[in-house]
Amino acid sequence: MSNQVAVVTGAGSGIGAAIARELFSRGYTVVVSDIDLKSAQKVASELKGAVAEQLDVTNPTASSELVNKVVKDFGGIDVWVSNAGISKMQKFVDVSPEDLKRSFEVNTYGIFYCGQAVARKMIELGIKGKIINTASMAAKQGRVPFLADYVASKFAVLGLTQAMAFELAPHGIRVNCVCPGFVATPMQDRELAWEAQLRGTDPESVKKLWINDTPLARLETPEDVAKVVAFLAGPDADFITGEAISVNGGAYMD
Ligand SMILES: NC(=O)c1ccc[n+]([C@@H]2O[C@H](COP(=O)([O-])OP(=O)(O)OC[C@H]3O[C@@H](n4cnc5c(N)ncnc54)[C@H](O)[C@@H]3O)[C@@H](O)[C@H]2O)c1
Repeated sequence: MSNQVAVVTGAGSGIGAAIARELFSRGYTVVVSDIDLKSAQKVASELKGAVAEQLDVTNPTASSELVNKVVKDFGGIDVWVSNAGISKMQKFVDVSPEDLKRSFEVNTYGIFYCGQAVARKMIELGIKGKIINTASMAAKQGRVPFLADYVASKFAVLGLTQAMAFELAPHGIRVNCVCPGFVATPMQDRELAWEAQLRGTDPESVKKLWINDTPLARLETPEDVAKVVAFLAGPDADFITGEAISVNGGAYMD
C-alpha cells in the first residue's frame, strides 16, 4: 500500500483524526486537513511524513487549490475522505434558516465541492481513485431527535454518493460512504449536553440511552469507523461502489 496518498477532511478531531491515523498505519502518506489548522497540525505531527493543510470544505475554490497543491507536492491523490461535518441539536420548529443553511453547506455541499475537485483531477490524471464520504446512521432513518437539519443534510449525502459512484465508475473511481452510529468524539460530547438539556436530564443518562439503543452495548469508537474507511479505500473493496455501509453496533439495521 506504500506510496499511496490520502487526504482526509475534518481530520483535526474525532473520526477524521482516527481515519488519518488508520490510513497512516496502513502505509498511506496522509494529508490531514481541517478548517482548524492547529488541530490538523497536531494530528499530522504524530504521523511521519504527514502534512497538515487548512481547508474549509464549504469553499469550492479552496478545495480545488488543495487538490492542486497535493498533486504538485505528492504526484497524485489515491484516496479522498470527505469527513468534515457539523451538528447542532434543537427542536425541528426552532431551526433557523441560518442553521439549516450551515448544515447543508458543511455536511452536503462540502462533500459535493470536494468530490468535484478531486474527481476532476483523478479523471485528468487517469487515477482510479477512491472517494469515501462520512454520512451517518441519521442518513438512513429520520427517527433521530433534535437533528432535523442534520438528518436532511446526511440523507442527501447518501444520494450524492450514489450519483457520484454512478458517474465516476466509467473512470474506475469508486465512491462509497460510511454511516456511523453513536461515536465518542467531541461532536458527541456537545450532543450529549444538548440532548440532556432538551430532555431535561443529564448527559450520563443520555449516554445510557444511546448504549441501550445499541445491540453491541457500547459507544462506538472513532477507530471502529476508521477501519471500515480503510477497508473501502483498499483492494478488498475493489468491487464495491455506491454503498452506504452502516458501522453502528446494530443501532440501526437496514
Ligand atoms: N460522532 C458521531 O456520533 C457521529 C455519528 C455519525 C456521523 N458522524 C459524522 O462524522 C464526521 C466527523 O464527526 P466527529 O464526531 O469526528 O466530529 P468532531 O466535531 O469531533 O470533528 C469534526 C471536525 O470537522 C471540522 N470541521 C467543521 N467544519 C468544517 C469545515 N467547514 N471544513 C473543514 N473542516 C470542518 C472540525 O474543525 C472538526 O475538527 C462528521 O461528518 C459527522 O457528521 C459523527
